[in-house]
Amino acid sequence: MSPKALNIGDPFPNFEAQTNLGKIDFYDWMADSWAILFSHPADFTPVCTTELARVAQLIPEFQKRGIKPIALSCDTAESHNAWIEDIKSYGKLASFDYPIIADDKRELAVKLNMLDKDELNAAGIPLTCRAVFVIDDKKKLRLSILYPATTGRNFDEILRVVDSLKLTQTKSVATPADWQPGGQCMVLPTVQAVDVPQLFPNGVQTIQVPSGKSYLRITAQPQN
Ligand code: BEZ
Repeated sequence: MSPKALNIGDPFPNFEAQTNLGKIDFYDWMADSWAILFSHPADFTPVCTTELARVAQLIPEFQKRGIKPIALSCDTAESHNAWIEDIKSYGKLASFDYPIIADDKRELAVKLNMLDKDELNAAGIPLTCRAVFVIDDKKKLRLSILYPATTGRNFDEILRVVDSLKLTQTKSVATPADWQPGGQCMVLPTVQAVDVPQLFPNGVQTIQVPSGKSYLRITAQPQN
């Protein structure tokens, strides 16, 4: 039986693992930061190469948000180190500065429920899907997305979600469809009308709808 999938809000389990940068204890490696753990089916594969290069190019964006990226691929650390030369070449990178977990025995892939039953390797073994886990500084899972091996991830979207997570954890708003940082936000349904003036001094616009209910309340993005 496969392990139970993690839900949003669950504690993200700690683990020890070998990486291209040496052995890590995940929680110690995270320290007080948030983390993005993203998994890959295998080294020396085309889509994965584009993804790892893209994340390396986005390192300043991750740093701005206080988030450390860590990848996982089901091969050894020696293989990762050889592959990193290809990733650097493809991504025109001077260096590659984040860890790739060596999950060659698929222990973490199983533990974190990341196997894709529909994508098999040459030996008929399920490949690891492209999982994304965003873990906060309290080691709690805040987001998980699973993509099939054949679809590369959009890391701009993942940064956008992180911006939303960080905004909405301190302000009484939620972010609407296709929101971008700086865009208008929705007042949380749990906010009482009486509290609106104090919480949103710059004003709230209520959109009229056929139901007559006043739940579509729009406000400028609150400042941090
Ligand atoms: C890739 O990274 O290109 C890939 C890996 C496994 C299956 C399909 C694509």
